[in-house]
Amino acid sequence: MAKNTMTLTDNRTGTSYEYNIIDGSRGPSVVDIRSFYKDSGMFTYDPGYTSTASCESKITFIDGENSELRYRGYDIRDLAGKKSFLDVSYLLMMGELPTKEQSIDFDLEIRHRSFLNEGIIRLFDALPDGAHPMATMGAATTALSAFYKDHLHLEDEEEFKTMRRRIFAKMPTIAAMAYRNSIGTPLIYPDVNRYFTENFLYMLRSYPGGKMKYLGNGLNDEIKQVEVDALDAILTLHADHEQNASTTTVRNVGSTEAHPYVAISSGIAALWGSAHGGANEKVMDQLRLIGDVKNVPAYIEKAKDKNDPFRLMGFGHRVYKNRDPRAETLKKLQDQLKEELNLDSKLLDIAHAVEEAALSDDYFKDRGLYPNIDFYSGVILTALRIPIAMFTPIFVIGRIPGWISQWSELKQDPSHKIARPRQLYTGK
Ligand code: ACO
Repeated sequence: MAKNTMTLTDNRTGTSYEYNIIDGSRGPSVVDIRSFYKDSGMFTYDPGYTSTASCESKITFIDGENSELRYRGYDIRDLAGKKSFLDVSYLLMMGELPTKEQSIDFDLEIRHRSFLNEGIIRLFDALPDGAHPMATMGAATTALSAFYKDHLHLEDEEEFKTMRRRIFAKMPTIAAMAYRNSIGTPLIYPDVNRYFTENFLYMLRSYPGGKMKYLGNGLNDEIKQVEVDALDAILTLHADHEQNASTTTVRNVGSTEAHPYVAISSGIAALWGSAHGGANEKVMDQLRLIGDVKNVPAYIEKAKDKNDPFRLMGFGHRVYKNRDPRAETLKKLQDQLKEELNLDSKLLDIAHAVEEAALSDDYFKDRGLYPNIDFYSGVILTALRIPIAMFTPIFVIGRIPGWISQWSELKQDPSHKIARPRQLYTGK
């Protein structure tokens, strides 16, 4: 029988090195090269980590060729819109879906923990009008580490659990307050009578001092169940995505024994970039820039032009070289909600034209460039009256359970080491 190893031969010297091949429960096997430097005096070279598995994980599985995404073994299509975001977050953080009783207890605990220490709220005052909510969220999340020092006692199971739940519960409050602070409107405190997602919409939309039925432009501050359900499904679709750029950042910072909230804050920083979570904001800018269906072919040509830095935002993915299952689910949601949520039909028409043109173009087909989750979320978030600056913060709220679970897994892995890659030096 063939040995479960791989032999690497240095053709300069004829020296061979043998490494074990490790099979996961699913997905590509890995070659365990941990002793490669010790054996050969050489490093492996993999900028952008396109061929590197940086850890072992039991949380999320992606099959990019077959458009599959699973959290703790559950297909995302069986979770989004079918289980609440809170239950899915519990699944990621605790490993199993909650029982009815656990679900109620978790919900109550999260409501209870949704308030911010007033000191954090004063921090907002130091930031200028118009500050991007992602900047404020990063600062406030880092500041949380000064208010909660319980990372020092993480060996205490209760403290470990509390620390993880606290940051999850507070993130919608931080996000909504960061936005309101940026536009100079009074901050709205959480309402413990509301479910997580509804509470976020309430803190974002409401007027202090009571209900304001009509705002004079046909809008009101009422929150419809269909809106809560749509946002809940969007959060679920963002909840985890294995070792993406921001999660890897959280793990790297976590590996240095930094405070967990600082590790989460570094994830917020990484997510903000337009090649990652910041793309959802850019998709809307781009659809507005295109402006009309008749302009779509010109922008497709621009995206294909190698002398032009323009990229089609919301297209392409490092792992999905086929359809992104999250995007597929969102597209269905978009179609279902078209009437109910009064989706912007002009933007939808442009989005559909972009999608059609790209999917039938050899440039995009040959490179496996399909719409990703960010391509569809913007139109729905706009219909929910979410300001564009809040698109990436919503991604953060959705991704917190993933980051917390990945950070916890790192901490509970006795073999984890500080993340410390090497380099190919070509300088003087
Ligand atoms: N528009 C035009 N061309 C593209 C696009 C795009 N959106 N994405 C990739 N390409 C091209 C590249 O130019 C490259 O072409 P080449 O082989 O001729 O040089 C090829 O496709 C491969 O692209 P890479 O950048 O090497 O792929 P990588 O896996 O490193 O990057 C990424 C993936 C960053 C998502 C990229 O597709 C991109 O920039 N997309 C637009 C931004 C975006 O939507 N980001 C959100 C990602 S999903 C998320 O983070 C939630």
